[in-house]
Amino acid sequence: MAHSHKHDTPVETGPSSKLISLVAQFDDPHSLVAACDRAREAGYKKMDAYSPFPVHGIDDAIGIRRTRLPFFVLAVGLGACAFALLLQYYVNATDESPIFPGYKFFISGKPLFSLPANIPVTFEIIVLSSAFATFFGMWYLNGLPRFANPLHRLPMFRRVTNDKFFLVLEAEDEKFSESRSRQQLEEWGAKAIEECHEDLTDQKIPNGFRLAGIVFLFALLLPPALIYRVSGMTYRQPRLHVVPDMDWQDRYNTQTRGPNIGTPESPRYLFADGRAMQRPVSGTIARGDLTESDEYFRGYKTGTLPVSEGAGPSAQDQDGQDQDGMATGTTPEPEWVDGFPEEVVVNTDFLKRGKQRFEIYCVACHGYDGNGEGLVNQRAVALAAAGEAAWTAAKSLHDPAVKAQPIGRIFDTISNGRATMGPYKDQIPVKDRWAITAYVRALQATGIRTPQELAEANSATPEAGQ
Ligand code: HEC
Repeated sequence: MAHSHKHDTPVETGPSSKLISLVAQFDDPHSLVAACDRAREAGYKKMDAYSPFPVHGIDDAIGIRRTRLPFFVLAVGLGACAFALLLQYYVNATDESPIFPGYKFFISGKPLFSLPANIPVTFEIIVLSSAFATFFGMWYLNGLPRFANPLHRLPMFRRVTNDKFFLVLEAEDEKFSESRSRQQLEEWGAKAIEECHEDLTDQKIPNGFRLAGIVFLFALLLPPALIYRVSGMTYRQPRLHVVPDMDWQDRYNTQTRGPNIGTPESPRYLFADGRAMQRPVSGTIARGDLTESDEYFRGYKTGTLPVSEGAGPSAQDQDGQDQDGMATGTTPEPEWVDGFPEEVVVNTDFLKRGKQRFEIYCVACHGYDGNGEGLVNQRAVALAAAGEAAWTAAKSLHDPAVKAQPIGRIFDTISNGRATMGPYKDQIPVKDRWAITAYVRALQATGIRTPQELAEANSATPEAGQ
């Protein structure tokens, strides 16, 4: 306030100003509290106390009631709740309305209106309006906004931030009468009393503000007017198109006939076949997509793929499905590689990688030791035993039949699946599949026994248990 008022001259009392309060100055907090007590007892309601620091007990002394803000916010929140629910009911579940027709929104046969589905919007609207109610309610209850507080014009009042204490009786109070209130204040120990006037000539809002306000009010009418205008129209284009991207650019849509660049009578297309999108030239391979080496990519020796009409081995089929249930051996198979292809270098890191991938992709069924007793298998076997599921137990990788398989065949099992086991070539890159193969071989080399072998060993020579 120090720089906002250059003139220290008291405001002159005339028809252009109005008495709004009497300001009494006290020297210490005790006399202020005592005076406040007296004022409250005398029946004053509209008064306020000002001090350089918080004074204990002052709230009770001037009889400040708890704020009404919470009730206000509660009322607004309840209103918002009702509004949000009605709004959603209206826009989603009705279509009879003369002005803005709603729309019956059928989604997968769900009810048009159901409370749980409408909670999020309701919640958000309640939170938003309550926040606004709190914020603006606080302003309103504090009498804000106002350009300035007339109290700040009293030179005496300046010391309120320093060493003086003030009691202000407002002229609006029923008990207020200028002479009697002044007398009472003196009785209650006021050291100085001044009148506070509001300068009525200052009340005018500057013309610029007025104009801006009027323009703003009219602008507020625009959105509803626009909404009303378009509510009955059909558009092919989005109503708002902030980032146009390539949307309006000349282009051909994929999977369509290319646009006619001739005449309707004699159509002519960019490409002879009329397709907008051309298929890849046959026989071409995209960079990095060449999977030439049969050994590395498919696990068999080149040129050993049996040529049978229709069903070849799964390695050649795009979908490994038509292999189903066929006992191995009856299907003609290529000659599987029995060593790792030259692209693969088997070392400790490679085995570690294989172990890690094995634990991600295989352990669920085959178990950590590869004996086919992973959690999924245990559960499925239990369900199958109860007649609740059909399940072929995951094979033990230590089964002699599996152990005897060439490396390429294990690679093929991982890639394309085998019998009831699904294929993993889409999830696991070639190199990792070889790493897993290497790890399976390492597991097999550990000499872990299959459950059957264990059972047999245990029954034959009890002391030879693993
Ligand atoms: C969802 C369970 C499941 C997962 C995961 C799984 N398998 Fe299998 N696997 C099976 C089942 C079941 C069989 C037995 C298939 C049959 O005989 O019908 C099997 C069989 C096998 C066989 C023997 C195939 C043959 O020649 O009979 C090998 C080898 C094998 N799996 C390796 C793996 C490897 C390596 C992984 C990890 C990449 C893996 N499996 C992941 C369920 C699974």
